[in-house]
Amino acid sequence: MNNKPIGILDSGLGGLTIWHEIVQQLPHESTVYIGDSANTPYGVKSPEEIFELARKCIEFLLTKEVKLIVTACNSITVSCVDQLREAYPAIPIVGTVPAIKPAGEQTKNKRIGILATTRTTTSDYQTELINQFASDCTVLSHGTDGIVPLIERGELASAEMTATLERELAPFQEEGIDTLVLGCTHFPFVKVQMQKILGSSVTILDSSEAIARRVTFLLEQSNSLASVPKPEYAFFTTGNAAIAKKILHATIKRSETVVVTEVSL
Ligand code: DGL
Repeated sequence: MNNKPIGILDSGLGGLTIWHEIVQQLPHESTVYIGDSANTPYGVKSPEEIFELARKCIEFLLTKEVKLIVTACNSITVSCVDQLREAYPAIPIVGTVPAIKPAGEQTKNKRIGILATTRTTTSDYQTELINQFASDCTVLSHGTDGIVPLIERGELASAEMTATLERELAPFQEEGIDTLVLGCTHFPFVKVQMQKILGSSVTILDSSEAIARRVTFLLEQSNSLASVPKPEYAFFTTGNAAIAKKILHATIKRSETVVVTEVSL
């Protein structure tokens, strides 16, 4: 048993979609979340810049004595998860990558779409996932860095968001995909709007359940599950705490009050 918290990091608020699934699957675990909203979006940055920023987030989480770290960000994971594991060998690091494997298994018409950040869509890591799990499919991979800043401003349902989603999803409609992979942890916040645009014949997949299952597996395997009757959830942001709270309350739909603390790394 280990009652220390699980650490979760993202370039901003997107990792909250992973946090939510983790606390659903592991209701006795405490968590510490750090969102680097001051430096978002990471999707337009180089792997070297992303590594340096992710390292600062990890250093912060280590001061909170976390027992495991989740990089709840595809852009971080595809850029530098191996280097991060090398830099911090004493702590398990769980990465987040686009759900291409389940998409390859579930698609019926063998036409898959991947919507992610520019960094993720142009990464060798994603190319390898496609070759490994969807080589028999037509894959349309589209990078966008326009959705994340809107979410970071707390705009989940603005007219600009609708117009942006319509524009970014149009190539997938033309391609006739039946499965869309959300390769950025911010995107599940607007999944409902995306489903409306794409219609019910398109299945939209994200990685959150699989990440939470992986965390569960690793904690079970190392006998490190917690048994805290009332777990604590600590949220930190390098950006604006009020926006982070709004996103947490509105979208994650937790009834209890959450405290978000602004920090600089
Ligand atoms: N949420 C992040 C991801 O999964 C990145 C968003 C960004 O900062 O560009 O890729």
